[in-house]
Amino acid sequence: MKKLSILTCSIFFLVMLSACGQSVTTNQVSSQTAQKAYSAAAELLTSVKTTQAFSEEQIPSEDVEAILKAGINAPSAMNTQPWHFSVVTDKDVLEKISGDMSGGMPGGAPPKGAVPPKDASKPQGTPPQGEADKVPSNPPPGTGMPKSGVKKAGIADAPLVIIISCKEGSQFDAGLACQNMAAEAQLLEYGSKILTSPTIALNSSKQAEYKKLLGTPDDHTFVAALLVGKASSSDDKVDSVSSASVRNSFSDMVTYVKP
Ligand SMILES: Cc1cc2nc3c(=O)[nH]c(=O)nc-3n(C[C@H](O)[C@H](O)[C@H](O)COP(=O)(O)O)c2cc1C
Repeated sequence: MKKLSILTCSIFFLVMLSACGQSVTTNQVSSQTAQKAYSAAAELLTSVKTTQAFSEEQIPSEDVEAILKAGINAPSAMNTQPWHFSVVTDKDVLEKISGDMSGGMPGGAPPKGAVPPKDASKPQGTPPQGEADKVPSNPPPGTGMPKSGVKKAGIADAPLVIIISCKEGSQFDAGLACQNMAAEAQLLEYGSKILTSPTIALNSSKQAEYKKLLGTPDDHTFVAALLVGKASSSDDKVDSVSSASVRNSFSDMVTYVKP
């Protein structure tokens, strides 16, 4: 009887010991996983640069949906969700937009007496990016911009383009949705590039035509295009990391207001 109770106690002790051991191991693993996830997210925020050359590989629909879900779940003022996303994989449509940008100016002369849309003169929320995404011949020294002759990705150069429109005054919200989608794309190991220059064509005198083509709500204007795709390894002229723009310093960009 005594032997049996010693055996029972020992088994109980061993089971407890192994459970403790397991929980330590599980805790260690989950903390390592959390650390790994943090490093990946931190790298995404500070190191991942704009992709300038995409491969033609198509993106599976589940990844496209995950990217759109990230946009749809972005925060917006009073949760108005004032955006619309047109998912374009049709090269002809992208070539048409690219053609209508024709050197940074809306394609074709505006009809006589036409009042250009308010936003047509330049891409919204950004300084002009030069002629339809060409690289300047003399990039400012130290900016890390790619040298002349290196092609930068334009709207027709990626397998997936999400064209973002929003209601007037909601550009900030749309920007958050755009960045959410870019971040999701990067987490899924795609490259991404944000472009506002296509709004030159999209908000031109052809805006109504583009709204119809892209299923854009009437009360929206176009704000940006998000290019997504696998970064091309075949184009050795483009290195989106070494040619990435440098960032300004903390002291230039940040003011601390302390008590
Ligand atoms: C709002 C916005 C608009 C942009 N528009 C254009 C554009 O029209 N053409 C272009 O070539 N790049 C455009 N870009 C890409 C920027 O030039 C690029 O993100 C920036 O220079 C940083 O480059 P890096 O990520 O390689 O450091 C845009 C980026 C943002 C965030």
